[in-house]
Amino acid sequence: MQVDRRKFFAAAGGTAAVAALSHEDRAEALEHYMTEQLDQLNFVQGGQASGAGAQPPRGTGNLFRPTAKVLEPMSDNVTLREVFLKRFSPARHVMQSAAHAMKTGQPERTIFACLLHDVTQNLIKADHGYWGAQLFEPYVDERVSWGIRYHQALRFFPDASVGYEYPELYTRIFGADYEPDEYIKAAHEHARKHRHYMEARLITLNDQYAFDENAPEITIDQFEDIIGRQFKQPKEGLGYDGSPVAHMWRTILNPNRPL
Ligand SMILES: [Fe+2]
Ligand SMILES: [Fe+2]
Repeated sequence: MQVDRRKFFAAAGGTAAVAALSHEDRAEALEHYMTEQLDQLNFVQGGQASGAGAQPPRGTGNLFRPTAKVLEPMSDNVTLREVFLKRFSPARHVMQSAAHAMKTGQPERTIFACLLHDVTQNLIKADHGYWGAQLFEPYVDERVSWGIRYHQALRFFPDASVGYEYPELYTRIFGADYEPDEYIKAAHEHARKHRHYMEARLITLNDQYAFDENAPEITIDQFEDIIGRQFKQPKEGLGYDGSPVAHMWRTILNPNRPL
């Protein structure tokens, strides 16, 4: 994807607003902007201004931002596939990253992790790696949720052994002095020494190939068998299985719940 610096800055609230962001927040804003461009969501990005023209905080999930899109009602026994179709779609970025992992013969677990790695941004964008890991933890192999958690930090650190370079785009958009937050550096240090390191690293690798505006449309059907094998679908349906994260799923199913 070609990122027009001027358009990105305008969407993020202007040059002054971007300048006021921490480095970590700038990278987040850029990733959100690119993901939304790919899905043609065209939300107006904002800061936390109050009064007329106020925008929701930048970390607000897509399901909680003003849009003309009507939420389709969910069935009584919700599957992951149904959530993809009715709450996460079109989800081009995650579909493209999973398709890339598939095409290049990566393990099924990696393809699956790529498919899930950013979908929590529909619920919440702030610290999306951590929220995403938690959302899926009860239903997936621990390596999948671990990878989702740490991909957020690893994006900022190169690893020549797998051919992951520091994204040139970050340098181009933000300048060469970019530095992630301390907790992101600490998470990277921790992940680097962990036996599951590659689970997260491969997500960042596939992430890089997943902002193609001209790629043919990919549907969730392509991943149906993988979901069947990798996702422990609760028999009561997502949101109603009494798991520690059931409430997070219920919020995704019905963002209009008043309390
Ligand atoms: Fe991400
Ligand atoms: Fe991503």
